[in-house]
Amino acid sequence: MKQVACYRRFSPGTQPALLHEPYVSSIKRAPSQPLVRMPQTLSEVTGPVFTPEIVGKACADLTHQQSGEPLGERIIVSGTVLDEAGRPLPNTLLEIWQANAAGRYFHSIDQHHAPLDPNFAGRGHALTDSEGRYRFVTIRPGAYPWRNHSNAWRPAHVHFSVMGPAFATRLVTQMYFPGDPLLAFDPIFNCTADESARQRLISIFDWKTTIPEEALGFRFDIVLRGREATPMEGRS
Ligand SMILES: [Fe+2]
Repeated sequence: MKQVACYRRFSPGTQPALLHEPYVSSIKRAPSQPLVRMPQTLSEVTGPVFTPEIVGKACADLTHQQSGEPLGERIIVSGTVLDEAGRPLPNTLLEIWQANAAGRYFHSIDQHHAPLDPNFAGRGHALTDSEGRYRFVTIRPGAYPWRNHSNAWRPAHVHFSVMGPAFATRLVTQMYFPGDPLLAFDPIFNCTADESARQRLISIFDWKTTIPEEALGFRFDIVLRGREATPMEGRS
């Protein structure tokens, strides 16, 4: 008999609100009309398929993508991708993007008055292994100003995209760092009303993955669904 997966609905407030007025952009972005269900097509539910050969190990080390080494504090960001039942998910494509140590993105739109680092593009990707684990080597990103309100600063964060077996399963979130004083003032972090759900966005300092004289380790496990689900943008 075919097994049918049952999914619990998210508890209210455990996912980012589409409309959160302190996050000014959400006022225009949030739907003002009832949502229209779009039919899924084959191209959205059957692929893409990623293999370790396509992804390549080098893409997971953001500190060795250019000719020299980037400035800033080297860190290891690692964790496990899990489903609702706590089962690890192998072969899941994770993509990350982030600002450099000075708080600037390598992107033409970012004109923040902070230096670019020619040795840091700020993007990488990796597949989870057979036990659902991933690992990135990168630079601790700097906080950066944004113009959401007067004196607005984003806490240091790393953007994550999680691609399951098809485009329709893609999820996007942000990882933060423990003890960041800017978290309390950040409207994007605080879009998720539920305190314990919000805490799942904050990585955990990890001695186990810290490399002596090389890099501090931060663990960020990602749970896709269920009561322990990581808050994901745009799915409330
Ligand atoms: Fe960002």
